[in-house]
Amino acid sequence: MTRVVYLSAIFLGSLAYFHVEGSYKFNSLACEVVSPQLGWIKECAIKAIDRKRNMLNIVAYLNRTITEVTSDQKRHHKLHIVCLFFQFQVHFRLVKRESGGWHPFLYDMKVDACMFFRNRRKLFIPNLIYTTLKQFTNVNHSCPYLAGTELSLMHWSPNEAMVLEKFPVEFGQYGLQTTWYTGKVRALEINGSVLYYK
Ligand SMILES: *[C@@H]1O[C@H](CO)[C@@H](O)[C@H](O)[C@H]1NC(C)=O
Ligand SMILES: *[C@@H]1O[C@H](CO)[C@@H](O)[C@H](O)[C@H]1NC(C)=O
Ligand SMILES: *[C@@H]1O[C@H](CO)[C@@H](O)[C@H](O)[C@H]1NC(C)=O
Repeated sequence: MTRVVYLSAIFLGSLAYFHVEGSYKFNSLACEVVSPQLGWIKECAIKAIDRKRNMLNIVAYLNRTITEVTSDQKRHHKLHIVCLFFQFQVHFRLVKRESGGWHPFLYDMKVDACMFFRNRRKLFIPNLIYTTLKQFTNVNHSCPYLAGTELSLMHWSPNEAMVLEKFPVEFGQYGLQTTWYTGKVRALEINGSVLYYK
């Protein structure tokens, strides 16, 4: 028991140490709409809070309704050539910058966004990432997302203590690369990176 307490103290102590020593800062963000019929990006920007901290604003506008595709609707599609319903899948990869290039780092997975919101706890890592976004976004429910909706992530700045607790990583540059698919079609790419520095 005392050993557990002792180890926890070291762990918490090192977090406190890191909290004082290191800082996170966004250092790149890129958004690209690959299928313009689906929607457009209104804003995709890094904004300064002060000299040390910054935040992300991403606002997208949907021109088409996104809904969960049931097998019934899939059959329906084959009959009616015009496709009005979309399903969203997000392929996300964590990467780390090393020797001049981005290299895979821990996670590379594809998630059905509509399904994800029906039971977030089923998907541990996506849920962990989502937990840091939750208060800053209106993308917080299951499908449908109707045409004409603005999807936004505003004033998002990672909580350093929380990030370090979940991802106790070394100093360096880390990226999150995401590709959004509707069915099999690439619709959107959003890549961002953070610098974790002393
Ligand atoms: C995101 O990163 C991937 C992998 O490096 C790259 O292929 C893609 O072009 C990038 N997209 C944008 C919008 O920067
Ligand atoms: C998407 O909707 C916006 C706002 O209604 C409109 O300005 C834009 O032309 C539409 N884009 C496409 C490709 O239909
Ligand atoms: C989802 O976000 C909207 C807009 O920020 C908010 O009004 C609503 O309460 C949120 N819903 C849930 C379930 O968090």
